[in-house]
Amino acid sequence: MNLTVIGTGFVGVVSAAVYASFGHQVIGLDVDEKKVASLRQSIVPFYEPNLTELLVEQQKAGRLSFTTDYHAAISDADIIIIAVGTPSAPDGQADLKYVFMAAESLAPHLKSNAIVVVKSTVPPGTLDKVDARIKPLATVTYHLASVPEFLREGSAVYDTLHPSRVVIGAEHDEAFEKLELLHKPLNAPVVRVKPESAQMAKYAANAYLATRITFINQIADLCEKNGADVEDVIQAIGFDQRVGSHYWYPGLGYGGSCFPKDVKELAAYSKAVGETGNLFIKVNELNDARLERLMANFSRQVGGWQGKKVAFLGLSFKPHTDDMREAPSTKIIPRLLAEGATVVGYDPMAKPDPSLLGATPDSAFSQVDTIEEACQDADVILAVVEWPQIVSFDFAAVRNQSKQQWLIDARNQFEPEMIKKIGFTYIGIGRSIN
Ligand code: UDX
Repeated sequence: MNLTVIGTGFVGVVSAAVYASFGHQVIGLDVDEKKVASLRQSIVPFYEPNLTELLVEQQKAGRLSFTTDYHAAISDADIIIIAVGTPSAPDGQADLKYVFMAAESLAPHLKSNAIVVVKSTVPPGTLDKVDARIKPLATVTYHLASVPEFLREGSAVYDTLHPSRVVIGAEHDEAFEKLELLHKPLNAPVVRVKPESAQMAKYAANAYLATRITFINQIADLCEKNGADVEDVIQAIGFDQRVGSHYWYPGLGYGGSCFPKDVKELAAYSKAVGETGNLFIKVNELNDARLERLMANFSRQVGGWQGKKVAFLGLSFKPHTDDMREAPSTKIIPRLLAEGATVVGYDPMAKPDPSLLGATPDSAFSQVDTIEEACQDADVILAVVEWPQIVSFDFAAVRNQSKQQWLIDARNQFEPEMIKKIGFTYIGIGRSIN
């Protein structure tokens, strides 16, 4: 089949490369000439494990190309996948302007019976609005579908190749059949639903996971009040299969490009349809307030940040990505600097512009290339992201016996007794251990 993916952001590039690997002819289309020029040279503007290799392989095989030319990309396409960004509008709902721009731009070039798929995360009802943009400009019959994306950053290629399910939202058999055929090599369960159900499923999946994280964070806060250890609690309740202990580590709150945005959008959408007292508003508020609360708590335990040297381990929002969107570092580091700390940051992949971390050239902030350098003479080691390099590091090697040092385990990744044995004062999440 001939496929065109509109939008060469994270989801677009991964999807284009994976569909090409099934043997289809795929064109990645973007209005950003610079992006297209670099993708033509297999340069991916972000870090995602295994993606560059897949891109190179598919380009070499002649199955994957990139263009800015709508006519060239659409006129021969059997399936067109819209994977453009949907930033949050000021009222919190998804701003669909890029989806609509793509719909209007592709419409005049459609070939007969082409299928236009919306993969971007959009609220229920969007397909009708997309149709209203395409119809006046199209000269042929076409079909619409909604196929949401559930991949995680850091394992996006793996997740796209091994999805737990493929959700296809459409109204016509022709769209279902072609899209099922497209996803057949994945050997995954296919859920055929109405477009609105597919769109709700995407929000529901992310809102559920974000709520689950918020729930265990709340339990962790209570554990700190009564001497319980949240890790014991997770173990104890996890044996109940209705609950499970997977995907459940407490921390600084969820971040990244999806959960914060999708929960806010679902809250705003709920309000817009008259459900004003909804759960999602509260989940969003609790997650937003979490960092402030934890930082005040840590500050109390270490005796304030003034004059302290802090080793900040993990700048991206999670491991195996250099994505800084809603990363804890972007909120914590400005606060540490404002409260008089010297901060030395380390991340295996993310090398953000210091301004993103609230630092100016005069700020007491630097980024180094090794954990050893970051931790040298640190008063406080803040282990924020569970990168394997950080979790497996031997902190005994950087222990300075001549002073008190704190290790804040913001992901509960370390064995508290072991950290204490090598001489650090251990602070975890939801574990009153000292
Ligand atoms: C998420 C969903 O997993 C994916 O299905 C969806 O399509 C996009 O959003 P992603 O944002 O890449 O993917 O990362 P994920 O690994 O799910 O983590 C999201 C955030 O939750 C991160 O900040 C992470 O640190 C946090 N998290 C995750 C927790 O705080 N505790 C957990 O137990 C799990």
